[in-house]
Amino acid sequence: MPDLYAVIGNPIHHSQSPIIHMEFARQTHQDIQYNAILAPLESFAATVSAFQQKGGKGLNVTLPFKQEAYTLSTRLTDRANAAQAVNTLKFDQNHPILGDNTDGAGLIRDIEVNQEIPIAGKSILLMGAGGAARGVILPLLERKPRLLAIANRTQTKAELLQTQFSSHGQIVSGHFQDFSGESFDIVINATSASLQDKLPPLPIGLFKETTLAYDMMYSQNLTPFLIFAQQQGARYLADGIGMLVEQAAESFYVWRGIRPETRKIIEMLKNNR
Ligand code: ATR
Repeated sequence: MPDLYAVIGNPIHHSQSPIIHMEFARQTHQDIQYNAILAPLESFAATVSAFQQKGGKGLNVTLPFKQEAYTLSTRLTDRANAAQAVNTLKFDQNHPILGDNTDGAGLIRDIEVNQEIPIAGKSILLMGAGGAARGVILPLLERKPRLLAIANRTQTKAELLQTQFSSHGQIVSGHFQDFSGESFDIVINATSASLQDKLPPLPIGLFKETTLAYDMMYSQNLTPFLIFAQQQGARYLADGIGMLVEQAAESFYVWRGIRPETRKIIEMLKNNR
């Protein structure tokens, strides 16, 4: 019998996780089955429990359940604690529900290994102050950037994140316009604006030729943020496909103790969109 894993969310039909994890399993010779589970909005905990009763070994958790998974966990990793959100659940006898968050590690690996851009000493502008932004702040600061600026439409939310994480590194916060004319080495879009095909209210002057513009979202074509960055002269553009595959690889490692190779599947997903 293969070990059972799944991704759980609502909606879930668009998820690429089953393809990614089954490819990892094939490549590393792991005997697993990985499915997609649609959980009703009001019964996430019951759906998780039913999966666990069936002998399930682990779950990836996606929208809108990452906070609920955090609450449900009986033990949390430090990075899940900092993110206040869980995207990876692991079930075993010692710790019935271990909650982890691999999103930040996935972003870091995509930037540093796949894009080959070291974060140490760099200036970073992180746009957004919701769950997606919160999840990557500590992992980014651990790579020792020179400065992390957090910009958000609702400024108070950016200020709260600044206060929460300021003991871990140099952080400033503000509204988008506060960073007008200030250029950064790396600009990361962690707002959900791209989902609505919208552009955050970006000031001009954020991008240099060498700036990496990184959108945590992805779509069939360049996102509005990446089009704007390109028009403003940024030469290095990346969307969230790399992060998606790398967070999956990190979850696979948490579950199986083996790190799969990611380059080929990233290429495949980019070519098949
Ligand atoms: P997620 O978990 O994806 O981060 P979220 O917690 O709802 O989702 O947060 C969404 C983020 O995108 C917030 O930072 C939000 O800004 P506000 O805090 O001001 O609401 C940001 N956002 C969403 N749509 C946006 C838009 N059109 N322009 C700029 N920011 C936007």
